[in-house]
Parts: sequence; C-alpha cells; structure tokens
Amino acid sequence: MTRRAVPIGIGHYLPDRIVPNSHFEALVDTSDEWIRTRSGIERRHFAADGQLTSDLATRAARAALENAGISAGDLDGIIVATSTPDLTFPSVGTIVQAELGMTRGFAFDVQAVCAGFIYALCTANAMIVSGQADRLLVIGAETFSRIMDWTDRSTCVLFGDGAGALILEAQEGAGTAQDRGILSTDLNSDGRYREMLYVDGGVSSTGTAGKLRMQGNPLFRQAVEKLSQTAETALQRTGLTSADVDWIVPHQANIRIIQGTAKKLNVPMEHVIQTVQDHGNTSAASIPLAMSVGVADGRIKRGNLILSEAIGGGLAWGAVALRW
Ligand code: ACO
Repeated sequence: MTRRAVPIGIGHYLPDRIVPNSHFEALVDTSDEWIRTRSGIERRHFAADGQLTSDLATRAARAALENAGISAGDLDGIIVATSTPDLTFPSVGTIVQAELGMTRGFAFDVQAVCAGFIYALCTANAMIVSGQADRLLVIGAETFSRIMDWTDRSTCVLFGDGAGALILEAQEGAGTAQDRGILSTDLNSDGRYREMLYVDGGVSSTGTAGKLRMQGNPLFRQAVEKLSQTAETALQRTGLTSADVDWIVPHQANIRIIQGTAKKLNVPMEHVIQTVQDHGNTSAASIPLAMSVGVADGRIKRGNLILSEAIGGGLAWGAVALRW
C-alpha cells in the first residue's frame, strides 16, 4: 500500500467588485479589444479597500472545509501560497489559522509567485506521504491589485484578486496511477531570469512593498516552453500519457499561453479548464480557483486525472499530476 495525499474538499472566494476591461481605457492607452485578443482576459475581481489577502484566504478555506464536511479542528496544518501577504510577518497562514479558530497544528506561507500553489501542493504532498501530517489545508490567495502600477498598461490590465483552497488527506492507495490523490510532482526554478518578473520594492531593499515589473514578451516565450516541459515530466512520472489526461487545470496568465501549452502537450482545449477570461491572472490563487470552478460546475469528477502547471517570478515553475 502507498500513502497518498487525496483531495477531500475544495472552495474559492472572489471579491464582490468585478472590473471589466473598459475600466482601464480611462486609466491608460489601452482597449478592451487589445486586452481580450492579447491575453484572453475580459474581467477580473478586485478586493475592496481594507479587504486583505487573509480575508480572501479565510473565505476560501471556509468553503473548502464545508465542501469536505470537516471542521478546522480536524486539520493538522495550513499552507498558504501568496506573494501579497497582509504584513511582512506573521504569515497569512497563521492569521487564517486564528480566523478559523484552529488552535493546534501549524501554519506557514510559501512564496513562489504564480507557481506558489504548485509549490505548496508539493510541500503538502511531501508532508503527508512522509507521515508528518494527515490532513492539510492548502490555499492560494492574492491581492495583486495592491502591487500594480496603474500607469503601466503592459501589466495593470492583467492581474486580479482571489483565493482558492484545497484540503488533502492521507489515504492508502495501491501504488498505481489509478490511485486517487497526488501521483507525481515536478519543481524547477532558475534565478538567472529574476529580472523578467519582479516587484521593485521590499523589506531589506527599499522598505516599501513596491510595484510589479514584467518583461511580458520574453516571459511569454519562456512560459510555453517551460510549462509544457514540466507538465510532460510530471505526466511521465505517473507512467500515463496525454490521452489519459481528463483536465489540464493550468495557471491562468494568458489564454495564448494556455493554448500553446495544451497544444505542445497534445491535449485538446475541450480538456482545459479556463477561467482567465473571468479572473485575470490571480497568481498563486489561479489554479485552486480554476479547480474549484471545475469541480463546482461538475466538469471535474471523482477519478479524473488532472494535470496542473504554473510559472511565475523567479523564474519558478512546476507541475502536479493528481487524480480527483
Ligand atoms: N494595451 C495596448 N497596448 C499594449 C498594452 C495594453 N494594455 N500592453 C502592451 N501594449 C503594447 C506594447 O507596448 C507593444 O507596443 P509596441 O509594439 O509599440 O512596443 C505591443 O502592445 C505588443 O507588446 P508585447 O509585449 O509584444 O505583446 P504580447 O503579445 O507579448 O502580449 C502580454 C503582452 C499579454 C503581457 C504577454 O506577453 C504575456 O502574457 N506575457 C506573459 C505573462 C506571464 O505569463 N506571466 C507569468 C506569470 S505572472 C506572475 O508570476 C506574477
């Protein structure tokens, strides 16, 4: 028998304020048409003034707990993937822990920008498989609207706020690719590319939070290449092929990246969950948001093989193959 990290509940939260592309036409020299055709984004959600990353994370966590039919006291730990924490410290994880009324176990944050949820899933999987934890809440939560330069048309139109949460539980599997749960993982980073996507402020440099800076076009080319490689690696580690993939649940940065990666993987777009049009790029929140939408609308079913991949600042990228 093989110990597996199996999904038992999922949920998400999006702030009430929906911002259409037309909003940006008054801010910068752009158009709804440019944003739609170059990125696939039609609208995104922005957190209200005073609404923090931990608020979004807590809402998503409550939805996932309800979906799983368990309470916060049943968890051994919380891992939050975020690059937009409420404060420099403590972690968003510990704030969520307190909000949920969970007084035992542990909580911490993982920071790998848009690849954050994949990194958090890999961490949770390692802890569960090694017996350090039996039940973990893994959250991706971001308020990227807070690090936008509203005068930079090449970035401010692309990002949104939101949170998604997944609960993983240790269960025994047969040790085959038919098991439910996380079947394989692949993580990568290469700090030589760090100037392609970064925030120009920080605690030990400027003492400010800073604003997001991105070289969109070179990053685009890196993204398709690296995402297809990492997804292919994760899939190969399961012993399965692209014909076995029920759903690609990709990081939602740009519809053209999603299409290019699916094509390289030889998976038709009918097997790809797309939320970029409604959410924009929500960084670490984008995969659990898309997964939660796919489960809620009935497309993702028990036993389906899911392949998730993401790339973000660092560069950091990775993939997870899991059976729902
Ligand atoms: N409206 C109108 N024109 C614009 C806008 C805008 N909002 N933004 C840029 N342009 C212009 C540019 O200035 C450029 O004009 P020029 O030719 O006169 O110089 C032209 O449009 C083309 O710009 P490109 O950057 O070449 O456009 P591209 O087709 O590459 O699309 C985009 C830009 C959408 C940013 C794309 O490159 C992309 O999605 N990149 C990857 C983003 C990504 O994957 N990020 C990783 C995850 S994010 C994270 O980790 C936080």
